[in-house]
Amino acid sequence: IFTNVAAAPADPILGLTEAFKKDPREDKVNLGVGVYKTDAGLTPVLKSVKLAEEKLLQEETSKNYLGIEGVQLYNKVVQELLFGANSSIISEGRAFTAQAPGGTGSLRVAAEFLVNNTESKVIWVSNPTWANHKNIFEAAGLTIKEYRYYDAATQGLDFEAMLGDLAQAEQGDLVLLHGCCHNPSGIDPVTEQWQAIAELVAAKQLVPLFDFAYQGFGDGVEEDAAGLRTVAAAVPEFLVANSFSKNFGLYNERIGAVTLVAKDQAEGEKAFSQVKRTIRANYSNPPAHGALIVSTILSTPELKAIWENEVKEMRERIAKMRLLFVKTLAAEGVEQDFSFISGQKGMFSFSGLNKQQVEQLKTEFGIYIVGSGRISVAGMTTSNVPVICQAIAKVL
Ligand code: LMR
Repeated sequence: IFTNVAAAPADPILGLTEAFKKDPREDKVNLGVGVYKTDAGLTPVLKSVKLAEEKLLQEETSKNYLGIEGVQLYNKVVQELLFGANSSIISEGRAFTAQAPGGTGSLRVAAEFLVNNTESKVIWVSNPTWANHKNIFEAAGLTIKEYRYYDAATQGLDFEAMLGDLAQAEQGDLVLLHGCCHNPSGIDPVTEQWQAIAELVAAKQLVPLFDFAYQGFGDGVEEDAAGLRTVAAAVPEFLVANSFSKNFGLYNERIGAVTLVAKDQAEGEKAFSQVKRTIRANYSNPPAHGALIVSTILSTPELKAIWENEVKEMRERIAKMRLLFVKTLAAEGVEQDFSFISGQKGMFSFSGLNKQQVEQLKTEFGIYIVGSGRISVAGMTTSNVPVICQAIAKVL
């Protein structure tokens, strides 16, 4: 039965990690996958997470199944983080959250639920977008259309083009929006632009699906939710897939959530029963550990304060690396202006390097970045930045 199965192409992001691991060079650098590193080049467990785990070890009394939607307290704290503790969406009972395995699992559940239960069969995604989005949505049976986003000439957002393309969307079409820290470009709409997006989406009766994987990595935990909350205030129905891989450093716990917001509670309850059915048919119910960590931290004021500080530290270190990167490129004699990198948000920088330059960085220098030219700034350190910049100067 396997004779005619063709080999799959390597994954553009995780496939790079596989190649990186096989590379025998000692001075190799992995700036492919979005994983935060300290200045010592490590990805340690956060202190807030360790403390929560200690508490769980003492207090956990059973490994019984969770309900299909996961840990109740977790789902509550997720909503508060997304919409704000005093949000009317929460008090009106319009939001329904199910814990899910990471951002990918959350997106997949959302997409499958939509395909099987609603008229929304088309999803508009930004060009460019995270390499896995198309995989997920196609696998779930959605049809993908693209809206323009990144303008290579200005290294900024092509906002007119974005709105122009979304104006072509039809009522009920889904629009994938990156809540903050757009992956891969690092370029987010500003406040007025979010407002205009909200107005357009509402006027055309489109359905936003937010991918919110970097809350806290842009300007702050609350600040980064501003775009989501602006759109949420303008439309009656939408979905959010969020992830705690990055902001809690819980990569291998696969912890995220899918949140459905309906126009009223009764309709939401019906729709959410189908979200649960989708989950049951996929993995029955979610694993507990990641959700227990997040809910313990967010519901314990002392732990929450430690976590907020840790997110701030990560955010500020990445911002420092952006500045150092730009400065060091100039010091290496690179004439091209890379100052736009310091204005980008989140883990990634869209460098503008082309495929050939990316390939050369890998083969000649052992520096791994994504084929699109996306660099994980979160993997830079004061000691590897000079090496990276020297190599980039050479390939340019
Ligand atoms: C990334 O974009 O590098 C991360 O979201 C990791 C992944 O799964 O691709």
